[in-house]
Amino acid sequence: MDAPNPSPIPPSPSQQLAKHAPVEGSDGFSSYLGQLTGNPFFTAGFGLAALATAARIGQKSLVQGASLLRRRMLVDIEITHRDHAYPWLLLWMTNFHRSQLAGAQQASQGGILSSLAQRINPRLHHLQVSTAQSESGSSRSAHFSFVPGHGQHILRYGSSFIFVDRQRQKSFDLSTGVPFETIRMTTLYSHRRVFERIFAEAHEMHQQLQEGKTVIYNSNGTEWKPFGEPKRKRPLQSIILERGVKERIVQDVEAFIEARTWYLDRGIPYRRGYLLYGPPGTGKSSFIQALAGHLDFNIAILNVSERGLHDDKLSHMLSRVPPRTIVLLEDIDVAFANRKKADADGYSGANVTFSGLLNALDGVASGEERIIFLTTNYVERLDEALIRPGRVDMTVRLGEATEYQIGELWDRFYAEFDGEGAGKKRFLAKVKQLGLTNTVSTAALQGLFLYNKDDPEGAIKMVQGLTAGHTRRTESHVELPGHVDVNDVK
Ligand SMILES: Nc1ncnc2c1ncn2[C@@H]1O[C@H](COP(=O)(O)OP(=O)(O)O)[C@@H](O)[C@H]1O
Ligand SMILES: [Mg+2]
Repeated sequence: MDAPNPSPIPPSPSQQLAKHAPVEGSDGFSSYLGQLTGNPFFTAGFGLAALATAARIGQKSLVQGASLLRRRMLVDIEITHRDHAYPWLLLWMTNFHRSQLAGAQQASQGGILSSLAQRINPRLHHLQVSTAQSESGSSRSAHFSFVPGHGQHILRYGSSFIFVDRQRQKSFDLSTGVPFETIRMTTLYSHRRVFERIFAEAHEMHQQLQEGKTVIYNSNGTEWKPFGEPKRKRPLQSIILERGVKERIVQDVEAFIEARTWYLDRGIPYRRGYLLYGPPGTGKSSFIQALAGHLDFNIAILNVSERGLHDDKLSHMLSRVPPRTIVLLEDIDVAFANRKKADADGYSGANVTFSGLLNALDGVASGEERIIFLTTNYVERLDEALIRPGRVDMTVRLGEATEYQIGELWDRFYAEFDGEGAGKKRFLAKVKQLGLTNTVSTAALQGLFLYNKDDPEGAIKMVQGLTAGHTRRTESHVELPGHVDVNDVK
């Protein structure tokens, strides 16, 4: 700006800001700075004193002056509810409010501007309750937090005053039914760097909250939305598969994650697909969730049998998976049942079709990077076309509990009561005698052990009860490439 510039065209505001505030690094925050630079702003020679004076002169002139000040010396930033940073910012404001309440006295030391701000709006005082319910087993808990409500607030952050305006629009997002919302934060132009700090803090806070947790995304309309609070990671050891099966899958996924640059250098789509099949209650879903936790990934779950999930939505969702997130498509056999319907009239209707599923898996619309797990209880309904590199690279059957799994599960529940393993031996003998090996699901066994928690003798006594409701192996044996059948693993 001070450089001699004969051109009559003044530098654009964003060029000016770029000079003042070089955008550093390639982290997410530079994009918020980008938003910031996109906002109209003007440099000014006025200082904070002008604001204070204007306030003292009277409300009328304050109102008149406000628009002038706004244009002259303020900078604002707007975040819409669709932005990833929106919930982080709400979280930050909630925590900030809490700490402000704790140190309410401090504000009075800040001199005239503090007391002015106190008088206008001492602190965030329109709060909104946000309730998250979580259900784990039979217990249900609710977590309440107070988030800054709609309306206008003034925050004092360090030496900066920030005017916060959270607005709810009258219009709704048609796909989710959620009203449009924005937060606009305004501060003095000379304090614009404060936004960078706030977003960095908000991001940090958000990350801390998720440490050791797995975020589970569900589809909400056409968006992935976190489902409840992030869940505590389920330890991988708590999943008991046949010897070696777990390790094989884990190694494969880890090798894939490590090979990222290899794929990208060669222009190969960086995708890997896994198919887990087998009867219900054999740990397919729980294993994938535990695996996500182990890899420090989040998980995005779509049920193909879900009502209203059609081809376009499926491929849209798969193209918008959040970063570091495993996709879990449950019950994919449903798509195969719908094959005819699409062939007949070309219209796929309200369900996912076979071709819709394949298109979503390898169509141009699907995201560049992806780890996807498919599950089904009915492998015989699937088609060989699914088994292609990038669609499904590895197929694993999780079957009914083998002797090894039964023993391991026993140890998980009763190791402390059955140090010598005598109870385990008797239990296994009884299981064998009743012909239950490879016929009951791990879930059914877990049920028995949970019922007889702390009581190994009770479990031994009740084991024949498993014969009544057990799931027998029904699917015909299908040979699929890359196939690991737990019964083949010695
Ligand atoms: N192999 C296993 N190891 C540990 N827990 C299991 C196993 N299989 C099933 N379970 C338990 O049984 C319940 C149902 O398992 P789930 O993963 O939903 O089975 P699936 O998806 O195969 O139908 C869960 O509570 C899970 O903890
Ligand atoms: Mg399941």
